[in-house]
Amino acid sequence: MEIVTKAYAKLNLTLDVLGRRDDGLHELQMVMQTVSLCDEIKLTIGTGKGLRVKTNLGYLPHDSRNIAAQAAVEFAAAAGIEYEGILIDISKRIPVCAGMGGGSADAAAVLKALNEHYRVGMTADDLCKIGLRLGSDVPFCIVGGTALAEGIGEILTPLPALPHCHIVICKPRFSISTPAVFSKLDCGRIQRRPDTQAVVHAIETGDLNEVARHMYNIFDQVVSAEHREIGELQHIMIENGAIGASMSGTGPSVFGLYDNPEAAKDTVETLRGYNCEVFLSGNIE
Ligand code: C5P
Repeated sequence: MEIVTKAYAKLNLTLDVLGRRDDGLHELQMVMQTVSLCDEIKLTIGTGKGLRVKTNLGYLPHDSRNIAAQAAVEFAAAAGIEYEGILIDISKRIPVCAGMGGGSADAAAVLKALNEHYRVGMTADDLCKIGLRLGSDVPFCIVGGTALAEGIGEILTPLPALPHCHIVICKPRFSISTPAVFSKLDCGRIQRRPDTQAVVHAIETGDLNEVARHMYNIFDQVVSAEHREIGELQHIMIENGAIGASMSGTGPSVFGLYDNPEAAKDTVETLRGYNCEVFLSGNIE
């Protein structure tokens, strides 16, 4: 039995950290957006060969350490089912360790696909509860679209769809450790925060320019201090016609929003001369 599905990346239109909890995790406030850039996942159930993961990137874990495999294990435990062998074959296109929720998207897609296949009657809320145990972005990846995410990422308030736009995403050739970036953030010395309410209001009124103007990620100041590429890439995007540019998650992916498709294409061409992976994408509901 084969199931084919897609796992869509996310971007942070805003990311704010409100404080640190006693368990070491941080209280967040983020406006999140699903984009068309995606991984493709094929699940083969009933292989008779245990749990296996295959990917086009040799360095990713090919066993139960892979978050997509953990999702399958957690789903089976919660649903009370057995796979009689399952192969999860992932074609990765979302950059890894990039701030775009690539692993979380894979886990979310596996949970949703298995839930549809087995029809055990789990609601989106049930899946989000399983997903949260795997990673704080998994609940948003299950729900998707445009949403305000609070708590550690699990309190989701759906927002109206962002007006359609063109999005250039650029991943510099270095990766970032999420825990390291969180630990470098000194909550007492934050120079700038996003105006989350302004972005939420702009989304509610369908004003893409206002969304773009107010986008900001609190980790920009942490990551830019060590990597000047973050600021340079945003500058190139704005110079080439982006109506706003920001970093996603804990980085290092940088993205620009465009209302003009030609400007977005020109930016992609310009960025091909830089040491980074470049994608032309768009928002999806
Ligand atoms: O949940 P996720 O796997 O994305 O978290 C990776 C790391 O990011 C955590 O181990 C923690 O160091 C940090 N984090 C945090 N507060 C959150 C989410 C993540 O401190 N709300």
